[in-house]
Amino acid sequence: MPPLPDSRGPLSAVLLHELRSDAHRLPPIALPEPEDPLLDEDLQLALYVLYELHYRGFDGVDERWEWEPSLLAVRGVLEDIFEGGLLTAIGPPDDEPGLRPEDMDVALRGIADADAASEPSLSGHLEREGTRDQFREFVVHRSAYQLKEADPHSWAIPRLSGAPKAALVEIQADEYGGGRAERVHAQLFADAMAALGLDSSYGAYLDAIPGVTLATVNLMSLMGLHRRWRGGIAGHLALFEMTSSVPNGRYARGLRRLGLEPATPFFDEHVEADAVHENIAAVDLAGGLARAEPALAGQILWGARALVELEARWSRHLLTAWEQGVRSLVAPLESSAPA
Ligand SMILES: [Fe+2]
Ligand SMILES: [Fe+2]
Repeated sequence: MPPLPDSRGPLSAVLLHELRSDAHRLPPIALPEPEDPLLDEDLQLALYVLYELHYRGFDGVDERWEWEPSLLAVRGVLEDIFEGGLLTAIGPPDDEPGLRPEDMDVALRGIADADAASEPSLSGHLEREGTRDQFREFVVHRSAYQLKEADPHSWAIPRLSGAPKAALVEIQADEYGGGRAERVHAQLFADAMAALGLDSSYGAYLDAIPGVTLATVNLMSLMGLHRRWRGGIAGHLALFEMTSSVPNGRYARGLRRLGLEPATPFFDEHVEADAVHENIAAVDLAGGLARAEPALAGQILWGARALVELEARWSRHLLTAWEQGVRSLVAPLESSAPA
């Protein structure tokens, strides 16, 4: 289990302090009013830590905290602030009265195509001119999700039934290696980290990962852990799969250009697997859910748009930092001998 991270402001300081004791009723906690919740270091770290109690937890933290009502109450308020930031950024889910369920995949394709055409492109940069250090930073950012790849979407499995459930489980079975531990995508990612001279243990770099990155993971946990957002998490996964194959091919080519072949299997796997997953996710999962629950159509597209919005903010953050010649992480990485 990873250690608890360092705090980044008054909110995370008080929560991290409380989590070091056995689970108990929390004292009143002053809640933040961040200017932009989607970028706020203190809020995003606090949410990430609270969600993490549902995944692997932290070393020395009482497991009973996961269901401590007073902590869940605080989390609920933080989630409202985060949701408020998302609604400000991309608006509320539309009703989509004219959208037929059988056209859901086309609507998602429209969002994916617009995203693919948007500049600047992080994957394009890394393919053509990314350095070894930039790849190391990129992978550390992604480790906040990829070391638990697929887990946030798995929360949706018991919330679905019939065709969309079957589609989700078909995708997840691949993500979890189809019965082979060494093929679990999170393990392939850990192997890529090790090949880049990084510590691949779960949560090792949490102190280095900025709020703009943590928000991309918190979005998945928020929608995965709330049944009322089951449409959103399905749309998120659909768009994730639809926008994965091409950039992962670029990352793999960039790594080969740098002679970092041992780091490529994770990316190669996603070129292949996600070319298949994108159809299952768009047609059978998202389309199937829209057929089963037409009222969720707008929310499915909203989950896809939220993904695009947070990913765009994240890639801009990395590219801007690198253009300015500074690191994109909030703490330096240990240097390592070239792999
Ligand atoms: Fe995957
Ligand atoms: Fe996939």
